[in-house]
Amino acid sequence: MMTYHNILISVHNEILTITVNRADKLNALNKKTIEEIGDAVKNGEADNAIAGIIITGSGSKAFVAGADITEFNNYNDKEAKTLSAHGHKVFNSIEKCEKPVIAAVNGFALGGGCELAMSCHLRVASENAKFGQPEVKLGVIPGYGGTQRLIQLIGKGKAMEYLMTADMMDAQQALQSGLVNYVTTQDQLISKCEELIGKIKRNSPKAIAGIVRCVDAYFTDGVDGFKAEIDEFGKCFNSEDFREGTTAFLEKRSPVFSRESKVSQKQ
Ligand code: COA
Repeated sequence: MMTYHNILISVHNEILTITVNRADKLNALNKKTIEEIGDAVKNGEADNAIAGIIITGSGSKAFVAGADITEFNNYNDKEAKTLSAHGHKVFNSIEKCEKPVIAAVNGFALGGGCELAMSCHLRVASENAKFGQPEVKLGVIPGYGGTQRLIQLIGKGKAMEYLMTADMMDAQQALQSGLVNYVTTQDQLISKCEELIGKIKRNSPKAIAGIVRCVDAYFTDGVDGFKAEIDEFGKCFNSEDFREGTTAFLEKRSPVFSRESKVSQKQ
């Protein structure tokens, strides 16, 4: 068991909440914090008692104001590549998590913070949230997937603009551009995320995991997403969830799915 120093974890209503807890540094991500987030997500994914995960920041000012600049300002190119590769590994594991992961963006989501939010499946922002990839101001580029995921979420033209100007996007602009799914008041932020996980958890955990794998296939080089869908669709028919879902429909009752029966298809 890893001891966490930079994140808080709590479980409520089958939801694991991971709170980046360095409010005095606007929750900036150092290497240790990224490692802790990765470990907490991995544990939540493996735990049958957990239906979904919320990632947020402590305090009311910042979700995460970026990678910790004080940590990497003396790095050489080799150290920088190692740092980036580690971030990619953890953020990819969040994206591939077979349970819903929602970023509750409670303030600044800049640089690595915007990248962390983009690696989650859904994003809910409070009205004061601000998004951006300001790395070019520091003479560097995003290193945790920002150049790729921003294009996926808002399209190439707008992504190019934000990446090159370092401009910040407010919550309403983020909503209009598709970067976030919902905007709420700061008070309603966590309950909106809980509501979304509450809806998702009524559905088949196996099917949800299949959705994650298929959507991921669309963005994976050399993988045919349509073929992945055919394979995943077929696999569903062997599952207890499919029998329960279709039987419940025919019996005009709500299905009861179990996370116990979920066997991960992860390689
Ligand atoms: N890395 C390390 N420390 C950070 C940080 C980061 N990415 N972002 C904020 N902090 C620290 C500040 O250095 C400051 O620490 P101090 O009190 O010891 O001096 C503290 O967090 C509060 O930040 P401050 O800049 O005083 O708050 P502000 O309200 O004036 O400005 C921001 C808020 C977010 C606009 C500003 O902090 C900022 O531009 N941060 C860097 C954003 C960035 O470039 N991220 C990409 C990194 S690759």
